Amino acid sequence: MRTKELRIFVYEYETVWELSETDKDLVLAAREAAGKAYAPYSGFHVGAALKLADGQIVTGNNQENAAYPVGLCAERVALFHAHACFPEVAVEVIAVTAFTKNGIVSQPVKPCGSCRQALVESEFRFRKPMRIILDGNNKIQVFEGMDNLLPFAFKPESLD
Ligand code: THU
Repeated sequence: MRTKELRIFVYEYETVWELSETDKDLVLAAREAAGKAYAPYSGFHVGAALKLADGQIVTGNNQENAAYPVGLCAERVALFHAHACFPEVAVEVIAVTAFTKNGIVSQPVKPCGSCRQALVESEFRFRKPMRIILDGNNKIQVFEGMDNLLPFAFKPESLD
């Protein structure tokens, strides 16, 4: 038997104003996108903004449905939108935020497992680690690469 210890790095900031200018602008774009979410069932409005390798910003938000499982999370709406329109361009950074009737969530929003898996695939596709910025009112968390957010992920090489 052997025990391995995994090191996960999370960089925490108190407000968006501590982020670099481009990261801050991306969080603000995610907040704007959250304002356009379609979330009549949960009241949980999520926005995601991606910065692509060519500098473009692509956004998405959650799209709910009366048949609940049909809905899609903001992260995947944004990611699939970007990959559908710009299949050759890597995603460098993703910012995610959410608000309810009480305002922006107090703790950094946590992408669901399915979105994490989709983000892992995107990193693999472009052979480029992504920076993930998770927005919250009390703090903002930054992860450098999906290995910090989904360790032991199922990856394409797992199919070998
Ligand atoms: N949701 C997202 O869009 N992203 C997340 O990271 C977590 C959850 C959506 C799905 C659903 O529309 C609502 O939030 C409540 O779960």
